[in-house]
Amino acid sequence: MILITGASSGLGASLAQLYAEQDDIAITGRNAERLAQVAESIKPQTNSYVCDLSDEQSVTHLFDALSSTPSMIIHCAGSGYFGPIETQSVAQIKQLLDNNITSAVLMLREAVKRYKDQAVTVVIVMSTAALAAKAEESTYCAAKWAVKGLIESVRLELKASPMKLIAVYPGGMDTGFWPASGKQANTESFMSATEAATMLKQALQASEQGYISDITITRG
Ligand SMILES: NC(=O)c1ccc[n+]([C@@H]2O[C@H](COP(=O)([O-])OP(=O)(O)OC[C@H]3O[C@@H](n4cnc5c(N)ncnc54)[C@H](OP(=O)(O)O)[C@@H]3O)[C@@H](O)[C@H]2O)c1
Repeated sequence: MILITGASSGLGASLAQLYAEQDDIAITGRNAERLAQVAESIKPQTNSYVCDLSDEQSVTHLFDALSSTPSMIIHCAGSGYFGPIETQSVAQIKQLLDNNITSAVLMLREAVKRYKDQAVTVVIVMSTAALAAKAEESTYCAAKWAVKGLIESVRLELKASPMKLIAVYPGGMDTGFWPASGKQANTESFMSATEAATMLKQALQASEQGYISDITITRG
């Protein structure tokens, strides 16, 4: 079974469509209506769970509800917020940090707590904004750099564990992320969610003795 977070929209929803062709999946997002639409479009009775991953109890309930140990967790949940630093609102900055950092910390903490002695792969989607500084994206970069630090540190804690952490750095995708962020981005040249999901799924194919640990999906 594969658990996909952030699956009510964008990259997570496209990955859910692709993985459902061959695997059992469970999907999660916050917006119940959109999540139900994605589940319905995949196949009836797709397991879906409404969950705010920045809330400790919701995360525990999500993992309690899973019918089996996932072989892979793909964490796509996240959001954007942009603009010159002095114009950013504190409430929106806090929300950005919750959606990107707190959600990744709580999800990974729960997964490690439960599965660190099992061959579970945890894939965490960040952004190319975790790799390079960008003007007017300061708090978004800060959030994604924090998640990179989280992954690289927890990897050291999991050295002797069969659990694997995979870091993903996508470039621009034409998804609901941009309208939700409030930024008027011209997304004409951006990857579609399906394109990015197809490349990511290919890169996540592991062999008997190896796997791709860090994946950058660059927009051409
Ligand atoms: N789009 C881009 O250009 C781009 C580029 C690089 C990296 N990324 C990153 O890629 C990931 C996926 O982005 P996307 O483009 O697919 O965005 P999207 O279409 O806006 O989807 C984001 C998903 O994350 C969920 N989410 C956000 N905060 C959450 C929380 N606190 N708890 C649970 N779920 C939460 C949303 O749920 P609800 O809508 O149900 O609330 C939605 O399902 C994000 O981490 C984003 O930062 C995006």
